[in-house]
Amino acid sequence: MKVLITGGAGYIGSHTAVELLESGYDIVIVDDFSNSSPEAIENIKKITNKDFSFYKCDINSKDALSAVFSHEKIEAVIHFAAYKAVGESCRLPIKYYSNNISGTINLLDVMNEYGCKKIVFSSSATVYGEPEENPMTEDFPLHPFNPYGTTKYIIEEILRDLYRADNEWGISILRYFNPIGAHHSGLIGERPNGIPNNIMPYICLVAKKKLEKLSVFGNDYPTRDGTGVRDYIHVVDLAKGHLKALEYIADKGICDSINLGTGCGYSVLELVNAFSRVNNVEVPYVITERRPGDLAEYYADPSKAEKVLGWKAELGIEDMVKSSWKFISNQQF
Ligand code: UFG
Repeated sequence: MKVLITGGAGYIGSHTAVELLESGYDIVIVDDFSNSSPEAIENIKKITNKDFSFYKCDINSKDALSAVFSHEKIEAVIHFAAYKAVGESCRLPIKYYSNNISGTINLLDVMNEYGCKKIVFSSSATVYGEPEENPMTEDFPLHPFNPYGTTKYIIEEILRDLYRADNEWGISILRYFNPIGAHHSGLIGERPNGIPNNIMPYICLVAKKKLEKLSVFGNDYPTRDGTGVRDYIHVVDLAKGHLKALEYIADKGICDSINLGTGCGYSVLELVNAFSRVNNVEVPYVITERRPGDLAEYYADPSKAEKVLGWKAELGIEDMVKSSWKFISNQQF
């Protein structure tokens, strides 16, 4: 089966590409390198010792996407290509609505044109907004509260409408919790671009002494140590979830949303301490004000993924912090 991966040079896309190649799929990657680099493409080939087609292509160009579909016999798509910085989405909402939503509409249009009706969509737990309780199940109400999250929600709605109109479509909507970690080779991972917003890249740059100290955003939340609790999931586990999602939709019409998380929450301080202990490196930190828009605590109920996909996260927090550090240790800044 030939699978198109949009945004395949990015953090989650590159790990998914490796897992697909290692499981015998043919892949085609499109990426515009707006938040990634050609090195990731080379490293996917190096890890797997396999070749594949790559197109430098912006999904906002329908002509460019059509050209890919006319050259390759694409049978399914895993769609990652999107802007993803929450803070930037609040400052530049139009940039996010335009790129994420229009790009997806182009893609769906071209897929329809070529009779390709299988898609795995990269959504986010952020579509739930503030949960009334934990763990979060897929039937929780959807209340995103920033433009980035709203783009994911709107695309989910578009996909649900598409399926209602034509139930030949096989659609898997994956709601990720907090992906961290890197491939065990140390060759692909999350490479921070400027000063990171997310916690793991920030911790790594502090450990590497490129940043002075981590700001822990608030220690007065109603959590076990007062700092925010999240469901961190190893990116390799997450990538494997995409293979299972592809198999799930391969031979049937369906549109289903599925959480990908571990079901286990860690606080900011627990994460920092695990990183220091496992990697034997210091991470100086200071407690600061809460970051506006942050929630105290949320984690997944991952039981639907186990039931319908036969998928379960396997790697623990130690693998996550170890592999993140291995990748960043190899990088030049
Ligand atoms: N945090 C710090 N200091 C930092 C960065 C983060 O203390 O420098 C804390 C946050 O307050 C939070 C936790 O670390 O408690 C995790 O923060 P991240 O920014 O890493 O992740 P978020 O949970 O805010 O958001 C992430 C992704 C979003 C996605 C969401 C899905 O960034 O894209 O998970 O639930 F939508």
